[in-house]
This record gives sequence, C-alpha cells and structure tokens, in this order.
Amino acid sequence: MKEYNRILVTAALPYANGPIHIGHLAGCYIPADIYTRYERARKKDILFVGGSDEHGVPITIRAMKEGISPQEVVDKYHALIKESFEKMKISFDIYSRTSNPVHHKTASDFFKTLYDEQIFEEKETEQYYDEKAKTFLADRYITGTCPICGNPNAFGDQCERCGSSLSPEQLINPRSTLSDAVPVKRKTRHWYFPLQKYEIFLKEWILEGHKEWKNNVYGQCKSWLDSGLQSRAMTRDSNWGIKVPLPDAEGKVLYVWFDAPIGYISATKELTPRWADYWCQTDTKLVHFIGKDNIVFHCIIFPAMLKAHGHFVLPDNVPANEFLNIEGEKVSTSRNWAVWVDEYIRDFPGCEDVLRYVLCANAPETKDNDFTWKDFQDRNNSELVSILGNFVNRTFVLIHKLCVGKVPVWHEAAMDKTDVELVRQIRETKAAVEGLLDQYKFRDALFAIIDLARKGNKYLQDKEPWKKTGKETTTSENRELIDNCLYLCLQLTANLAILINPFLPITAKKMLHMMKVVDRILEWENAGKTDLLKSGYRLRAPELLFRKIEDTEIQIQMEKLHRNSIKPNNSEPAAAPVSPAEKKPEIQYEDFAKLDLRTGIITQAEKVPKADKLVKLEVDLGYEKRTIVSGIALHFDPAAIIGKQVILVANLAPRKMKGIESNGMILMAEDENGKLIFIAPDEKINPGSNVS
Ligand code: MF3
Ligand code: ZN
Repeated sequence: MKEYNRILVTAALPYANGPIHIGHLAGCYIPADIYTRYERARKKDILFVGGSDEHGVPITIRAMKEGISPQEVVDKYHALIKESFEKMKISFDIYSRTSNPVHHKTASDFFKTLYDEQIFEEKETEQYYDEKAKTFLADRYITGTCPICGNPNAFGDQCERCGSSLSPEQLINPRSTLSDAVPVKRKTRHWYFPLQKYEIFLKEWILEGHKEWKNNVYGQCKSWLDSGLQSRAMTRDSNWGIKVPLPDAEGKVLYVWFDAPIGYISATKELTPRWADYWCQTDTKLVHFIGKDNIVFHCIIFPAMLKAHGHFVLPDNVPANEFLNIEGEKVSTSRNWAVWVDEYIRDFPGCEDVLRYVLCANAPETKDNDFTWKDFQDRNNSELVSILGNFVNRTFVLIHKLCVGKVPVWHEAAMDKTDVELVRQIRETKAAVEGLLDQYKFRDALFAIIDLARKGNKYLQDKEPWKKTGKETTTSENRELIDNCLYLCLQLTANLAILINPFLPITAKKMLHMMKVVDRILEWENAGKTDLLKSGYRLRAPELLFRKIEDTEIQIQMEKLHRNSIKPNNSEPAAAPVSPAEKKPEIQYEDFAKLDLRTGIITQAEKVPKADKLVKLEVDLGYEKRTIVSGIALHFDPAAIIGKQVILVANLAPRKMKGIESNGMILMAEDENGKLIFIAPDEKINPGSNVS
C-alpha cells in the first residue's frame, strides 16, 4: 500500500436545482463525512471539499419550471442545500459553488490549457434546433412519444415511464419543450475530448492498478472500458454556464461535466493557498465520494482530463455507493417520491444523528438498498435507544446511585475475568473499526460499535452491581465490585464516544458533556484505553441520548410521502396542498352562496375498522346529529377530538365510505408539512350556527 502524507476528500457537487433528499446523504455525503471525521481524529492532514453544481441543463430546466432565472434558481437552492448540510453536520472545510469567479477562471484556464495542447478535436455535427425559441435544444428539452412504451411525454434522453435511455432521434413526433415547435436539425460546432486516446492508460491504471476498488465501481469501469471509449463533446450551445474561452465561440459554454469536477480544484483553491500541495503532490490521497450515476465521470472522464492536463494527482479511490430506494420504490424527484432533508430536519428536530445512523446502517454500499420509515423507527428504538442510549444511561444512573456521582476508584487487585474480557473487547473493537473504515466499510464499522455497546449492557447484566448494595450488605468486596464495574462502564462510555464520533458527532458531544471531559478525548489514539476518566471527580447528571420515535410520527411520514407523490400515470398528487403559485380559478358569489356552512360539535369519534385513515364522527348540529366519515385517522387520536367545535359543509351530497354513509365534510387547514388543523370558531357558539 502506498504511503500518503495528506488526504483530499471530495463529495459530488449536488445540482443546485432542488433540495437534497436522503438518497444524496446516503450516497455520498454521510460516508464522506464519516471518513473525514475519522481521519481528522487520527490527526491526518485532510481537507474535505464540496459545493453546489450550478451549471447545466438541470438548472435551466428548473428555471423554466419555476418561471424564474437560472441565477435565481441557483441562489435559492445553493442556500437551502448548504443549510441542510450544516444542520446534518456534514463537516466540509469549504462548501463552495461553481458560479464562484475562482471557479470560472480555473475551469476556463483548464479548458484553455487542453486547447493549447491541441487535445480537443473540433467537429461539426447536426443537432436539434428550435426555430421559434432560436436556440439549440439539449436532449432534455425535446419531448415526444417513447418508441418503446408509447409514453407521449418521453424526453430526448430518457423515458421516465419505462426507464429506457433514448436519443432525441428515436422520439416519435418530437417537440421542443420551450416553444412546442417541431425541432429541426441544424449544424453546430463543438470541441470534443478524445477519450479513446486514453483507453490504454485508463485500462492499466484502473483494471491493473486499482483492483481494490469496490466491485460495483470496478465493474462499471471495466464494462465502459471493454466496450470502447469515444470522443465526447466538452462544450454546449447555451447561454447558461462558463463561456468557452475562445474567439468565435459566441453562445457556447463548457459542458457541465467538464466544469463541475474542476470545481473540486477551485474549491480547494478558494480554501487555502496550500491548494497545490493537495492537487499536485503525488503523496496526496485523493478520494471521491459519489453515487453510482457519477462513476463514469469520476473514474474515466475526469481522470482522463487530469491526465491530459498533466499537473494533477489522480484519485486513489472512488468509493461510490449504489442507490437508496424509498419504501421499495426508486427515488424520483419528478414524482416527488423522496424524503427531503430540509423537511426531515423540520419534522424531527434534534434527531439529525438518528438520520445519519439509519442512512449509514442502511447505506447502499454494495447494492441498492431500501429506506423505510418502519425500519427508521425500529433502528432508532431498538438500537439507538435500547442499546447505545440505554447503556450510557444505565451507567450514569448507577454511578449517581451507587458511587455518589463520582468516577469510582479502580481496584486493580479485584479485577476479574469478566473485566478482562470487556477490556479486550474494547481494544478489539477499535482495531476492527479501523480495519473496516480503511476499506470504506462504514456499515460494518457502525455495527461493530453498536455491538460493543451491546456487550456493555451484557457486562452490566452479568455483574449486577445494583444487587451488591444495601446498608449491611456492602462489604468491602462488594464495594470493589461496584467500583470496578462502573469504572469500566464509564471507560467504555468514553470509548463509545470516540468510536461513534465520526458517525454521530452530536451524540458524541452530548456524551462528553455528561462525562465532563474536553473534546481532545475524542482523538482516535485514545480509543482502546481504559483510563480515560480519572477517579474521584463528579460527573454531570444523565441526559437521554435518544428519544423513542412513536408510531404516529411514522404514520404521518408515510401519509405525507404518499399524499405528496405524483402517481406514475402523471395524475396530480392526491389532494396536494394548493400553494400560492397554483391558485384555483375565480368563482362568483353565487358559487360560494351554494355552500351551507355550519358550526358543529364532535360528539363521538371512532376509527373505521380496516381503514387506516378513516374516522367515523358524530357531529351535533343542534337541529340534528350527523354521521361524517373523515380521513383524519393518521393525524388525530379519535378520543382526543370529542367535544371539539368544527365547521362543516352541511349540504354536501352523501357519500359511502367503507359502507358508512358520510353526510358532510369538516373543514381543515393543512400546513406545509401536511399536518391537519381543525378550523373552528374561536369562541363557544351554539351548534348549527350559520357560517358565511
Ligand atoms: N451535479 C452532479 C449530480 O448531481 C454531480 C457533479 S459531481 C462533480 O449528479 F464532480 F462533477 F462535481
Ligand atoms: Zn418508454
């Protein structure tokens, strides 16, 4: 193995065309962050760089959809993404953006260097052009009928219904999404990077030189290399991006996949004047964390560009993850089948580490993996709460009860076999975690740590220090047993803090606080030691590290996921909240006057059997009682809403639901998280009163 003197970690630059979802976190940001925190704890010279990818078609498409400029799109989402990373404790040394002038200059100079070295081939080809909008059309901007499944809304690069990748030529009845015009072919000139000239170099470098790369990565590289490489255009016709730095290149910009990876270099430049040490010294270990859709760009195209340029190091490893599905289905941002990180943070404040935990435990390291809310709850409740949280809590509670809240004395002579075994397990776990992290096996490393906490619980159970006390029974022998047991449990707690810190940094900090020790204890070399806390000083009171996650919280998330998603047949989201941007059409007073709105009081409420969402209500209108079936079971406990004042539409035609006739509808407001809130008079009023 090669000796390295510094490490440079990169994580894929997310497109600033939307918020990030948990698939992004699981794919690369969490593993990159764990790796970085681990190496920092080992006092390595390491930098972790990232930023937003602000060019390319994804940005211009989003601008078109939102009716704002590309600049407004990137400003909005860059800020949102950056904030999500901060809250999730993704500890970039710099989180930059490709609209930064340093980046424009770096990417431009890079292109110019390759141009001056006569690396590029200049070629004229025919491409689709929109004569109405007066612009060349990127593949994504062309829609038409899919030749494979007949979907009338397939794109020029892909059909989202059947998943086939397409080229615009294959579409039946192609149209421009900009103007609906029928696109025509027109000649255009671009600069191509001759990848085929680097085939031999790449084969040797990857297929011979990097057999240690993960199977999924190595395999994808091999299949690209085996099927032969071709020239790729490194410029595009567009007015959004980095201008091609050549005369006669009006309306041409760098291809986003040319400029974006150079963003890693630019971000490092922006961060430190020592940037060239990281990028140009061969004793730098460069590691790219990415998702599997980025493999070809990071393992083949970018390295070939770096090689052609000549001054830069190549990656030592590209530990790409596969995809994370949600509830058994592929994440789709266009169908809104995703769990958005900013929403998670809002819905589960203080549970950032829980998400880090679940996404690492379920990381799609070797194959696609599934995120389910049920599993999220289970892992929280039965691993974080019951194993790690429980061990730390028991240790602290017992110390306060049996050792007056102070770190007990260690009685060397009283050490027994069980103690020796625990000490051995602590050391072993440290070594195991190191071995696993060095191979980018984050899940197994995490499981090894949880397993150590489990052993801690077992140790306590075997020792039963709580049974060795009581006024008369506390012999000196028992005293020694209690002291030694809790002394070791505390040392184990300190070890758990060190080991878990790269994974769950917020939790590690809480543990330090309770133990009243300084951050320096988290240095990795301290792991394995069992004299980290000195006898005699007073500890803080226990605080719970994790809270239980309730069924209702999970139901609300499931409900939200389904409610907001758009069904594959392109129908509208089921009862999606009407945002200000999509107002309903104007109505006349007569339309409104048709509604018979009344106040009422809920007098009975019970769940409808075999229907997750339905509650059967009896509402008193003063002049009569009504049965109403309402889809609110996931939001309210029926018993808790009896007696509530409500407003209802009293003249809605009856409807049968699950065999029960519903006579009216209760008015509810829905907040941006999908939470339902009753609309009610703000004073007590007789049931049956008119509302207008
Ligand atoms: N924006 C790309 C994506 O989301 C990733 C770019 S990675 C970089 O797929 F290397 F190009 F920056
Ligand atoms: Zn199709």
